Amino acid sequence: MSRIENLTKEFRELYGTEPRIFCAPGRVNLIGEHTDYNEGFVMPAAIDFSTCVAASPRADRSIVIQSDNVSGKAELDLDQSPENGRRHWSDYPFGVASKLEEAGHRLRGANLLVNGGVPIGAGLSSSAAIEVATALALLDNSDLTIDRLELAKICQQAENEFVGARSGIMDQFIACFGKADHAVMLDCRALESNPLPIPSGVKLLVCNTMVKHELASGEYNRRREECEAGVRILSQNLPHVTSLRDVTAKDVERFRPDLPEVIYRRCRHVVTENDRVLRAADALRSSDLQTCGQLMAESHRSLRDDYEVSCEELDLMVEFANEVRGVIGARMTGGGFGGCTINLVESDRVEAVKLSEKILKSMSALRRRTRRKCNESVSRRTSNPQVVV
Ligand code: GLA
Repeated sequence: MSRIENLTKEFRELYGTEPRIFCAPGRVNLIGEHTDYNEGFVMPAAIDFSTCVAASPRADRSIVIQSDNVSGKAELDLDQSPENGRRHWSDYPFGVASKLEEAGHRLRGANLLVNGGVPIGAGLSSSAAIEVATALALLDNSDLTIDRLELAKICQQAENEFVGARSGIMDQFIACFGKADHAVMLDCRALESNPLPIPSGVKLLVCNTMVKHELASGEYNRRREECEAGVRILSQNLPHVTSLRDVTAKDVERFRPDLPEVIYRRCRHVVTENDRVLRAADALRSSDLQTCGQLMAESHRSLRDDYEVSCEELDLMVEFANEVRGVIGARMTGGGFGGCTINLVESDRVEAVKLSEKILKSMSALRRRTRRKCNESVSRRTSNPQVVV
């Protein structure tokens, strides 16, 4: 039985009605990390893992939700929606319902059943996937349609204001505009995007450290505040600066004496990363894969040393991957503090890379560390590291 048939059957058993089903994908990001909320450039690609939401109308104004992945039921009264979530997985769908209503889209009540296929806390954007799939389901359930970009913005708002994670637009955007076999080059200031075909000779391989990044939202928000602090300081001398998008690497060096050390390094990451995305897009367009690989390596170093969002396990996976024949580039992907690496791999070497001694060694090294130091970072891991895509 297919996943959709299964979900339909379960829904019928739970609610006794026939559902309509909407799905949205997770993503990886090739390059351009922590640049979206600085109005910079990103290059995400939608992946095969997705989250599906089955829905049917209710007579009242309640949203009732259940999930295949977690037990229990949650309910939201659309006429008494709270301002914020309560640190529960239903915050994502309820945040979306609440922000859709706030934007003037009057919703009908709905029974919902979620089937999540994007690993949670793996940096593959399971949150945007559930947000976008829920938004599509709730709108259809209410006979409403809205512009896809508006939908992405509303989902981001749900995450920023209802859930409390001050994320940028990248994840929701790619969940709405992802295209098969393409990455998308997105300018997060103009919100203009260009599809970039993934050259036929390469594939994207995602490796999961299985370190969950769920406790990292405090650190994430802190990075964002540090960038804002950088803008405040730099704009005293450069009045045209309203975000780090307006700042060049030269500016950062010139005004380095004004910037606290940490803020200086955060700014340096963002401005050099923006430049790397632009160069990577050119390189991808001209199938200059070696340059893409080098830019990915620089991006990882910058995230590790300047932005400090990597972790030991991610560094190790990248380091080992770089030694494998057929791997053109490797870096952490997503918000960081755990989660996955993205690897640009020669197509005909993908199977060999998955089974390569180096990759397997990196995974067994991670496993050994789990045994050795159970109380430290590695004990955060939920199970063995994996190649997931
Ligand atoms: C998370 C956020 C995105 C983006 C990345 C880092 O995935 O949701 O908006 O900031 O981190 O690039």
